[in-house]
Amino acid sequence: MSLRTITKLAASVALIAFASGAARAADNVEVLHWWTSGGEAAALDVLKKDLESKGVTWSDMPVAGGGGEQAMTALRARVTAGNPPTAVQALGFDITDWAKQGVVGDLGEVANAEGWDKVIPTALQNFSKFDGKWIAAPVNVHSTNWVWINKKAMDAAGGKEPQNWDEFVAMLDKMKANGITPLAHGGQPWQDATLFDAVVLSLGTDFYKESMIDLDPAALSGDKMKEAFSRMEKLRSYVDDNFSGRDWNLASAMVIEGKAGAQMMGDWAKGEFLKAGQKPGTDFVCIRFPGTQGAVTFNSDQFMMFKVGEDKQKAQLLMASAIEDPKFQSAFNVVKGSVPARTDVPDTDFDDCGKKGIKDLAEANEKGTLFGSMAHGHAVPASIKNAMYDVITRHFNGDLSTDEAPAELAAAVAAAQ
Ligand code: GAL
Repeated sequence: MSLRTITKLAASVALIAFASGAARAADNVEVLHWWTSGGEAAALDVLKKDLESKGVTWSDMPVAGGGGEQAMTALRARVTAGNPPTAVQALGFDITDWAKQGVVGDLGEVANAEGWDKVIPTALQNFSKFDGKWIAAPVNVHSTNWVWINKKAMDAAGGKEPQNWDEFVAMLDKMKANGITPLAHGGQPWQDATLFDAVVLSLGTDFYKESMIDLDPAALSGDKMKEAFSRMEKLRSYVDDNFSGRDWNLASAMVIEGKAGAQMMGDWAKGEFLKAGQKPGTDFVCIRFPGTQGAVTFNSDQFMMFKVGEDKQKAQLLMASAIEDPKFQSAFNVVKGSVPARTDVPDTDFDDCGKKGIKDLAEANEKGTLFGSMAHGHAVPASIKNAMYDVITRHFNGDLSTDEAPAELAAAVAAAQ
């Protein structure tokens, strides 16, 4: 073999190695997320396996912490360093905030070819798109105004699903008398705020909109808001002494094990019940927070894509397409506790709570009673959300009276605007 042939051969071997290396790099996604509880991890695994079956490998970047606050801090560090992950779990206004900084990618090629416009509800598109461009792929719709009740505990407390505030309080009183913690709760600001979402909504859909979305100072500081804080104070009386800092999934575990009667939490809690082998209707009951029937406060997890090198863009598009596949939407959301982000996914594989979630969402959307969850970043941007968290948590911990809280809330919101 001449030297020339050997050189040529070496060059083509190098080229093949480079090409396959590039292909491999292009088909890997590094995903930042906060799905670390048992139920969340099981759902994440559905996504991971789906992508792997399509030749896309997964580099995991989990940042524990329900609600995603810690994940967003980790994300800021990565973006500031000029090295964003391929895809990032993100919520509502956080997506818009990143888009405004000009650092997000463009999923238009896939979204337009697959007709996402026609099947993803406008309420989600408002966050998945910025300046008319698709920048994120919604994977689900969760809602926050649910209560998860241990069936045995409910039966021992009279066996009736509470329909209004008074019946709810009566049930919690009976649970207390029966010697269990009535309300399982984790004292973290986002969890306190999740309760607050439901309590405000239970005082009227107009009131939720005026206070949480329109930020009307009169609604924020008025008598109805005082009633909301009064209900929060009452709920606090049903929580055990060790609630401070408890993770939400540990609160779910208290209900699963029958140590507590009920948990007010978004439907990701259902993922924990299912993971523990429990069945809706038999072991646990799902109801809308009493007084919020017919209305929904939603949050949608989306995978937001950042501007990355050309070598990673193909994987971003593959991942986005996989996420919006109707079959995947069903398989994933059945495990996660949420409902599909597309309107054309059959409810066949969903349990009764999931079927109810799908129906409630469609009806609320039609009736105009579908609202973004304040607690989960779909009502107002993070700056205002955090100002609300602060007041809600101080009040829940007894550092602020029910009389003072409404004016504090209005002032905190005004200062954050
Ligand atoms: C929410 C998120 C859910 C769930 C929850 C608890 O913000 O949308 O998917 O994971 O936090 O971690």
